[in-house]
Amino acid sequence: MSCDTVARVLAGYRSAAPGLIARFEALSSSQILAPVADLLPPPPGPALDIGAGTGRDAAWLARQGYRTRAVEPVEALCSAGQARHGEIVDWCDDRLPDLSVLRGAAQRYLLVLANGVLHHLPPADQITAIDSMACLLAPGGRAVLSLRHGPTPPDRPGFPVDTTALVRHVERRGLTILRCRTGLASVQPENRAAGVRTDWLCLSRE
Ligand SMILES: C[S@@+](CC[C@H](N)C(=O)[O-])C[C@H]1O[C@@H](n2cnc3c(N)ncnc32)[C@H](O)[C@@H]1O
Repeated sequence: MSCDTVARVLAGYRSAAPGLIARFEALSSSQILAPVADLLPPPPGPALDIGAGTGRDAAWLARQGYRTRAVEPVEALCSAGQARHGEIVDWCDDRLPDLSVLRGAAQRYLLVLANGVLHHLPPADQITAIDSMACLLAPGGRAVLSLRHGPTPPDRPGFPVDTTALVRHVERRGLTILRCRTGLASVQPENRAAGVRTDWLCLSRE
């Protein structure tokens, strides 16, 4: 794992947090998750939102009836999220690609979400991250990932994401791809203007 890369990305989010909090919270989770909404397993059950930012999506999942944990390593984003959604979302500090804290605990999840995070990892670590997420799924659980393509701010570097290679890896691992939708325009106006496209993957552990 490239610890330097992760540290650099997280430092970028730490510096940008004051401006990002309102921007993240202004977005609509139901609009963002629409490409995979029909595949979310029926609540209740434990759900995890990895790289949760302010926990907007985690709170939305909690309101749908899941027992939700948000995973966010940047303290400023985590505390903003706790102030807004602390009553319905549990918070934890862990990081991709290894998720060593979560993998060391007994809890397994019905739903694991990673929205807009994987591109911050180099390609080999993206594979490791998917494996880590798969390990956290309970039998019958589903993982949902949004994969970002396009420019990123220089202080929060991004890497190319080869969706086809990730799908092949998931299938080799014996997981089922329930959806792969590619090339959607970003729902964030600033990102859409910059030409950012998003792919959505939903995979299941039978
Ligand atoms: C583009 S933001 C998306 C935030 C949130 N999912 C949303 O949709 O609003 C990426 C988030 O992932 C977190 N992050 C970046 N690298 C991470 C890593 N290696 N492990 C866990 N979280 C990470 C950042 O701190 C940030 O909150």
